[in-house]
Amino acid sequence: MDQPTRTTATARVYSIFCLGHSMCAVAVRTRVAINEFARKLRAFPATSFDTTEEIRRFLAGTPVDEASLAPYLTWDRQHYTRNLIDRTDLYELIAICWEVGQFSSVHNHRDQNCWMAAPIGKLVVENFSVGFQDIEAGNCRLEASNRVELTVENPCAVDPREPVHRVVNPREFNQRAVSLHVYSRPFDTCVVYSPEQGTCGEIQLHYNTMYGKTVPSSQ
Ligand SMILES: [Fe+2]
Repeated sequence: MDQPTRTTATARVYSIFCLGHSMCAVAVRTRVAINEFARKLRAFPATSFDTTEEIRRFLAGTPVDEASLAPYLTWDRQHYTRNLIDRTDLYELIAICWEVGQFSSVHNHRDQNCWMAAPIGKLVVENFSVGFQDIEAGNCRLEASNRVELTVENPCAVDPREPVHRVVNPREFNQRAVSLHVYSRPFDTCVVYSPEQGTCGEIQLHYNTMYGKTVPSSQ
């Protein structure tokens, strides 16, 4: 196993396992730089991206160092930003920056697999079940199902059986957050839903930055 490229006192994740009433063991996971994370992700064979568990475990076992993400972070008071870190035929790796109170539309992932972790701050993923959808006609009926807290210790995979969700940085958390997303395969459109109005439609997705450089059309 490769050695992580950064080891600082703050760049650690502590998982506490209770061994009884009087004794606890602390397992320390050292955070890795994003370049190292991306290099390891590239080493997975194509079959690893066909199901969700293997990459979810990789995210859980490979927490990313906050400081190494700096070249990829951009902030916009009006909208969360999408920042491309790496892209292959198999997947794209994106950092999304969430100001306090920002949230995504309710959306799907075009039947692609998706994994998320939150190396900075924490987020909430709200899942929805689809009772009915007619994308051509723009009609749907959705019901809220469960909510999952997304943290560095608790990455999650979108459930292919219930892939409609939104991501929220709740105002009460009172902190910025950054999520890392792996989408396999890459996609540049998705369907967004309004559960309240029972409407849905396809939108085009854009990057605000690619490989640390601003995309002119995003300004
Ligand atoms: Fe998503």
